[in-house]
Amino acid sequence: MADQAQVALVTGASHGIGPYIARSLAGAGYRLILTGRSASELNALADELHAVAMPADLTRPDDLAALVAAAERELGGVDVLVNNAGGDPQREFDAMTWDQNQAIIALNALAPIHLAHALLPGMLARGRGHIVNISSIAGRVSFPYTEAYAAAKDGLIGFTRVLRNDYGARGVSASVVILGAIRDAGQGDRTAKEVGLKLPSAGTSPARAVGRAVLTAINKDKAEMVVMPGPGRVLKAVMDLFPGLGPAMNRAAGADDTMRTVIEFRKQRLNG
Ligand SMILES: NC(=O)c1ccc[n+]([C@@H]2O[C@H](COP(=O)([O-])OP(=O)(O)OC[C@H]3O[C@@H](n4cnc5c(N)ncnc54)[C@H](OP(=O)(O)O)[C@@H]3O)[C@@H](O)[C@H]2O)c1
Repeated sequence: MADQAQVALVTGASHGIGPYIARSLAGAGYRLILTGRSASELNALADELHAVAMPADLTRPDDLAALVAAAERELGGVDVLVNNAGGDPQREFDAMTWDQNQAIIALNALAPIHLAHALLPGMLARGRGHIVNISSIAGRVSFPYTEAYAAAKDGLIGFTRVLRNDYGARGVSASVVILGAIRDAGQGDRTAKEVGLKLPSAGTSPARAVGRAVLTAINKDKAEMVVMPGPGRVLKAVMDLFPGLGPAMNRAAGADDTMRTVIEFRKQRLNG
């Protein structure tokens, strides 16, 4: 259990996987700050978990600064930051404008790095802190149509490793939790329902596994966790050894066809 004073800030807590992370931390005794843009969903979860909701658009530096100031003013600072907010528009790289590609990087890489940068001084002053970044296996398996998203999520892996190395001796650690496909909440689940596809339970993980992984990453101070069925970290290492394997797996598992369907669906939505 976290001691009474421990405060955790969870981003992307309004819907998708974030509420599962929040429930897992609440169950471990953390006092929670929940953030996202959707105030009504945040307030509902905050009521359930006796937490504090602080809506913010993390791609807006003024919102982010106000969130950090409010967390310090109202709860005395943040001990655990879970950078979970993120997502991908599921469109072809070349069909998106440069601004749209930049927006993907802003949400998935710049916002978590910015928030870590803003909260780190308080953690260092208190001599304790843990930053958990939620990444994705997308880049490692060459998941179709995720160029900018994969760059951002792979970037978070490198960011976490260096942060962990630089500040561990001063009491602030960092972990990255790398997700494969999640079946019962979040963007993949929502897209499957929208497009009329069924996500197989083989090859996917339940959202509650992410909540558990975040807690393990903090409690056991893990550098890296992979949430995938089977030996996720081994699979990831094999992908790094044999980069041609990801695309072959995507073809064999039908991911290429599925994502083509999703891309066409998004295109029709935009044109229709
Ligand atoms: N689902 C999967 O299979 C999967 C796989 C690999 C990795 N991931 C990663 O897991 C994390 C959670 O994904 P998810 O599937 O739960 O996505 P989701 O259902 O789309 O939820 C995304 C969360 O991020 C928040 N968010 C989006 N834009 C924001 C912004 N500009 N400012 C502040 N908050 C913002 C959303 O809240 P508002 O809309 O209220 O702002 C929401 O709470 C992401 O980092 C994603 O990349 C997911």
